[in-house]
Amino acid sequence: MDNQPQGCPVGIQSAMARASRATLLLILFAALRSLPAHAQTPLGAGDPAWLAYRPVDPAVVFGTGGRIPDTIVSLGQDVLEQSSLRELSLGWRGMLNHVPRTVEPRRPDTPIAAESIIVLGTQSEVRAWRPALADGPVLGADAFRLLRAGSVLLVEGGDARGVLYGSFALLREIAQEHSVQALNDRSQPWAAVRWTNEWDNPNGSIERGYAGPSIFFENGKVRPDLSRAAAYARLLASVGIDGCAINNVNADPHLLLPDNLKEIARIADAFRPYGVRLSLSIDMNSPMSIGGLPTSDPLDPRVAAWWRDKVEEIYLAIPDFGGVVIKADSEGRPGPMQYGRTPADAANALARPLKPHGGLVLYRGFVYNNHLDWRDLKADRARAGYDNFHSLDGKFESNVVVQIKYGPIDFQVREPVSPLFAALPRTNEAIELQITQEYTGQQRHLVYLAPMWKASLDTDMRASLASPPLPVKTLISGNPVQGLGHSLGGFVGVANVGTERWLGHPLSLANLYSFGRLAWDPQLSAAAICDEWTRLTFGNDRSVRATIDKLEMDSWHIYESYTGPLGVGTLTDIIGVHFGPGVASAERNGWGQWIRADHDGVGMDRTVATGTGYVGQYPAPLAARYESLKTCPDNLLLSMHHVPYTYRLHSGETVIQYIYNTHYWGAQAAAAQVPAWESLHGKVDDAAYAEVLRRLQFQAGHAIVWRDAVTKWFAQMSGIADDLGRVGHYPDRTEAENMTLDGYAPVDVTPWETASNGKAVMCNRNTACTAAMVWDKPDGWYDIAVQYFDFRDGVSQFTLRAAGREVGAWAADDNLPDNRINGHTSTRRTIQNVALHGGDTLVLTGLPDGRERAPLDYIEVTPGGAGNSALTLHRKE
Ligand code: GCU
Repeated sequence: MDNQPQGCPVGIQSAMARASRATLLLILFAALRSLPAHAQTPLGAGDPAWLAYRPVDPAVVFGTGGRIPDTIVSLGQDVLEQSSLRELSLGWRGMLNHVPRTVEPRRPDTPIAAESIIVLGTQSEVRAWRPALADGPVLGADAFRLLRAGSVLLVEGGDARGVLYGSFALLREIAQEHSVQALNDRSQPWAAVRWTNEWDNPNGSIERGYAGPSIFFENGKVRPDLSRAAAYARLLASVGIDGCAINNVNADPHLLLPDNLKEIARIADAFRPYGVRLSLSIDMNSPMSIGGLPTSDPLDPRVAAWWRDKVEEIYLAIPDFGGVVIKADSEGRPGPMQYGRTPADAANALARPLKPHGGLVLYRGFVYNNHLDWRDLKADRARAGYDNFHSLDGKFESNVVVQIKYGPIDFQVREPVSPLFAALPRTNEAIELQITQEYTGQQRHLVYLAPMWKASLDTDMRASLASPPLPVKTLISGNPVQGLGHSLGGFVGVANVGTERWLGHPLSLANLYSFGRLAWDPQLSAAAICDEWTRLTFGNDRSVRATIDKLEMDSWHIYESYTGPLGVGTLTDIIGVHFGPGVASAERNGWGQWIRADHDGVGMDRTVATGTGYVGQYPAPLAARYESLKTCPDNLLLSMHHVPYTYRLHSGETVIQYIYNTHYWGAQAAAAQVPAWESLHGKVDDAAYAEVLRRLQFQAGHAIVWRDAVTKWFAQMSGIADDLGRVGHYPDRTEAENMTLDGYAPVDVTPWETASNGKAVMCNRNTACTAAMVWDKPDGWYDIAVQYFDFRDGVSQFTLRAAGREVGAWAADDNLPDNRINGHTSTRRTIQNVALHGGDTLVLTGLPDGRERAPLDYIEVTPGGAGNSALTLHRKE
């Protein structure tokens, strides 16, 4: 007998075909009420992100007068096909205000009483049901076809995962109000490995996570409620991501203990309905630290046996376990090198027991010595990936993938692509991208990363100009048809999502979305993916799309321009939290992120002729391009060459003037993002609007902190003045230490360039302190910017009065990532259009809280946007 349509009483199919309109409505209502709870509400917890399923115009999608398919015929029983069914029902309800019924026919001849249907099934299921429909070429793993054939809308998968991906793709089309009338698309993933890595710790913290605590762990245990984990798997599946390593690459070995594995299996259960395979980062020292062995040497038979047993134990708990991620011999992590073994020895020790289960080893190419001698001009961290791995090409088991960061250093705002990609023709490779914005503003600055990722993926690594182009995206495809000597490859994105809207900044979700879409198809353009994301998240309104797309697409360049010009690296505090400026922190330590700035010039000489020789690690055409100053692109100049500040770029500007100009331009562009976003007031969801506005306002202020710190530092180092006279001259500012202070006392700020004049004031008592200045310029309307410091802890209170009248009051209640006055905590509050009269006293009152002593840097008064200083003012204002 036929399966009953889900939630419909017996015999409802034929009844529905005959029912009057009123009866139909009643039946639909009954069907809605009897839908399982998970189909009535968005699944899981947390922000629905781009799966918002906002109402669309059905006439655009299905044609004027075209029927909305009202029946889903689901041919398979697989859990992924069940998820597909549920997802389509949700999408239909949200976007089309329609509750489709479902039919699960057991026999090919089962009649379907409906005018327009959606058919879900694998290619073999479709073929068994209606051979004529499954007439195309064979679909591979994870691939799908979407086809409109008469009254049938077909979602056909190469396998059950393909059905799920096809369902999401169909929903994506509908959400963007694309017509499905002539749909006939086939799609297959570019590469097999499409994973995220989450750097979550068992205590619930996340290394380099900027959106609240872990969705997986709390207090040393797996969370009891894993609905967010399920919701995350759904998001990942919606863009084709099929794997997720849930814990920090600096792995806690205790997660491999039997009791913990049982708990972790619950996360795998939450992932399973969405086809996301759970993986774990492992610590290579586990055989000693939790196994009680005297060694962790990967070639010791006892160690090999220990790993074999551990892998078997894992698969007993998690039958579809995806594999392991290994960070070894890097940043203090234990690894094979301490036993005189190679990364291949270590990777293979794990790969062998994983292989029969279909498990993978993702061995990170991020192996380097963080105790380099900075005085040695030939030492170079950038060389490490290639130097440690290229001789191992062909020595890895077939289920090992070397996971290579896009650049040779560490997720900087711009890096040349890692030369290692071209050095391992017989080894599986994956590119490691960073979705979490560790060095790119930590989700407090808007940076859409897809254009940066595209720049790496599209870099041509061919061995000679006579051979066809060989972009990185091909090298990582694992597609032997491309002439590669390996058959597996892919994409890994370090996502580090947390409980606060997944990534905190609502606009940062475009990065998670784009990662998945690029991993599926790196041929897509960053702009096209961005627009897709915007439409799915914020709707199809043209002006909304245009504004958000522009904000996103411009954002990387804007951020780069005030944080890391000319390929120098991100000029942040590299031994601290990687957020605010800290130019000199890169130098004179073993971490090797040197920028080699001295009084005459700046940049790492990595040439073969006179430098570290790094450039010689690239295939000949690229090496030649980077080696020569004539052909090295300006935006990578300081990654490859040490040049005088007076060196002229291809643009004609000197390096030093470029550094000044780009920082001023960048800060201005960051400020202009605020009114652009404000133009969307009332056109986007209120909560998202407010959250984005808050973050863009912060960014605008922090871009000024960056601008001033970097330009002053280079002005002092080079001794060359800004042609335009801006750097070091701030005529609208009054330094806090020069104001009339009551309770406040001046302090020196470290590093000096992160505060105006290198100084700030701190309140030395537990009651309020004041800093006062007399306004001695013409009457007018002014914007008053107060530059203060907002620590991670403490909530100081500030009040600003002009001539006794309160013009602003706020709490320093952000939790910026430090508890000291510096570029991480410097924050700007701007009070717009304040009427000031010559002789007015401006008084800033600061009430400290804990160790946050209401710190103040300066007050800057500039002509207001809505008025001008020539206005005649009346005292009562
Ligand atoms: C960066 C990051 C670390 C991380 C490391 C890695 O250095 O700052 O937190 O552990 O990358 O990728 O392993």
